[in-house]
Amino acid sequence: MDKKNQIRIAVIGIGSMGMDHLRSIAKTANTELAAICDLDREKADRLAEEYAVKAFYDHKNLLEWGEFDGILIATPHYNHTVIAIDAFEKGFHVLTEKPVGVHANDIKKMTSAWERAKSKNPKIVFAAMFQMRTQGHWKKIKDLIDSGELGKLVRTTWIITDWFRTQSYYDNGDWRATWKGEGGGVLLNQCPHQLDLYQWFVGVPDKITGYASIGKYHTIEVEDEVTGFFQYNNGMVGHFITSTGESPGTNRLEIVGEMGKIIFENDTLTFFRNRKSMLDQLKEAAGGFEHCENWKIDIPYQTNDDSAHRVVIENFANAILHGDDLVAQASEGINSVAIGNAIMLSHFEGETVNMPINGDAYEKKLMDLMEIKGENHESTDH
Ligand SMILES: NC(=O)c1ccc[n+]([C@@H]2O[C@H](COP(=O)([O-])OP(=O)(O)OC[C@H]3O[C@@H](n4cnc5c(N)ncnc54)[C@H](O)[C@@H]3O)[C@@H](O)[C@H]2O)c1
Repeated sequence: MDKKNQIRIAVIGIGSMGMDHLRSIAKTANTELAAICDLDREKADRLAEEYAVKAFYDHKNLLEWGEFDGILIATPHYNHTVIAIDAFEKGFHVLTEKPVGVHANDIKKMTSAWERAKSKNPKIVFAAMFQMRTQGHWKKIKDLIDSGELGKLVRTTWIITDWFRTQSYYDNGDWRATWKGEGGGVLLNQCPHQLDLYQWFVGVPDKITGYASIGKYHTIEVEDEVTGFFQYNNGMVGHFITSTGESPGTNRLEIVGEMGKIIFENDTLTFFRNRKSMLDQLKEAAGGFEHCENWKIDIPYQTNDDSAHRVVIENFANAILHGDDLVAQASEGINSVAIGNAIMLSHFEGETVNMPINGDAYEKKLMDLMEIKGENHESTDH
């Protein structure tokens, strides 16, 4: 491929996800791997040799070298903020893994750094690895909502309790399931994709009430079971129920509107389509129990054999090369993170949280949980 039609990407953080991204970059026509960066020197050297690129052990040295167009961040969560801000200061494009940051204030700092970089180069791209947005069933649900098939929405409920994890999973990696290392539990590690899709489908709630259990099933210091109750000013209510302690768990999304109900479960997308608005029916029907006439429709959707991660990497390159729309702007990552933060803040404070969340209140709570009261956490101190 002509080098003018390729972007050079440096991958930072070569763990299980970073390894996958190395393979995706190699497979993608419009991307070329430029360098590898990991704190683990032995790993960085070994993989750099395998891919015939340079190895770095500190992202600042990598950015100083600078022979690439953009970076892909696949490190533990807190580092996303520091590395993205440093990259924007040097004028590089950034694709970051989920969650974009640990808390809303961190994402605001990343977005401000991006805005500053854009004032020098308006074309700088800030993308997030929300690869599930590229999958056929989620795209179809988004399309059904946006095209008004459901009419006025009244309830959205996601039960996503099939994140079963054993104690051995949590014991295998010292950054996992700690406030200091990971910044949270099931909401921050397992659920960012579903929280992103939730807000992508129906928006950010206006009020959030959360109930969480900290280390209920596992010996961990963060949440492993959560129920969030959401209220919207337009009258819709929502529920987000998740756990890493249920086996077999459930993954069921229900979106109910006046014109019907969408259910996605077990890879099947079903639309119960009302013949008339249920809100009109309940006012107008003569009998006391007359449901709306409705049809059950199995909605077909496209499946894709390609890796969704690879599709996002290709899209990142096309956004840089040709100005394509991004699958997910990373600045939108604040929505899913703020929903998760608000569920936890509500749990800790014992009251409903009005959105947008008070980022300082949650950051302070997180600092307390990390037991470094009164100091800035080093990773967010810019
Ligand atoms: N999009 C997805 O589907 C998906 C799936 C799994 C994980 N993730 C995300 O990918 C990221 C990484 O997760 P993982 O499971 O690969 O973790 P991991 O622990 O397997 O790997 C992290 C790697 O980052 C390195 N590292 C840590 N700090 C660094 C720093 N400052 N500079 C350079 N390297 C550093 C570590 O040495 C390690 O090799 C997380 O944000 C995680 O949430 C995304």
